Amino acid sequence: MPRRSVDLHAGVRRLDQLLANLGYCSRREVRDWLKAGRVTVRGQPAKDAGQKVAAGEVLVDGEGLDHPDGILLLLHKPTGLVCSHEEREGPNAYSLLPARWRARNPQVTSIGRLDKDTSGLLLLTDQSQLVHRLTSPKHKVPKVYRATLDREPPAGVAELFASGTLQLDGEKAPCAPAQLRMLAAQEAELTLTEGKYHQVRRMFASQGCTVLTLHRSHFGDLALGDLTAGQWRELPLDFFGTTENSG
Ligand code: URA
Repeated sequence: MPRRSVDLHAGVRRLDQLLANLGYCSRREVRDWLKAGRVTVRGQPAKDAGQKVAAGEVLVDGEGLDHPDGILLLLHKPTGLVCSHEEREGPNAYSLLPARWRARNPQVTSIGRLDKDTSGLLLLTDQSQLVHRLTSPKHKVPKVYRATLDREPPAGVAELFASGTLQLDGEKAPCAPAQLRMLAAQEAELTLTEGKYHQVRRMFASQGCTVLTLHRSHFGDLALGDLTAGQWRELPLDFFGTTENSG
């Protein structure tokens, strides 16, 4: 039987790298923080920015490190914010988070995207494996959207959306089967298991309807609960099963 080697240094990193990656300050600034006595390692003032440490041994200003193992958040995204980190695309959803979280590396990013004009449930994490897992069409996580339409959709649209044959312009594959429930003449609830670009808007546009407002209410079993627009709550890192820390 091959023996599995155990990495005794897993999770051990240079102090300056650890603090910079957790968004405290730049690696260069760590030296000033050490001189000012702000950082202790195993109870002793840290002197060497290059010393190897485990996150649990480090205090900054007397406090344990901020989410050393990673972050998973459920955000109620308001309209008007993009999910891109590109500044030229305008104000983004990450601007709602504390500055330290915005400075983390790997960066906190969204699991899938909502358009600027879409509100609702958005997951954010710094765990890249979780992003890949939950956005993969293989996993078929159901996402529920509520759309207000400019007109009543034509007869047969629910059957068409459910058929798995709807082909959107520019897409290689047809849309996977999607469940449409009309809540009122111009109010629709659509459940998708994939996330093509602007998919809800394009599916309705293919049927002559413009989506006037769009809101995501559920991601898998998760709902917004009483979070108001702009608020978030934390989820345990293992909420979707275990992930390895990509940092
Ligand atoms: N479909 C859209 O058209 N927009 C979104 O933001 C999400 C799904």
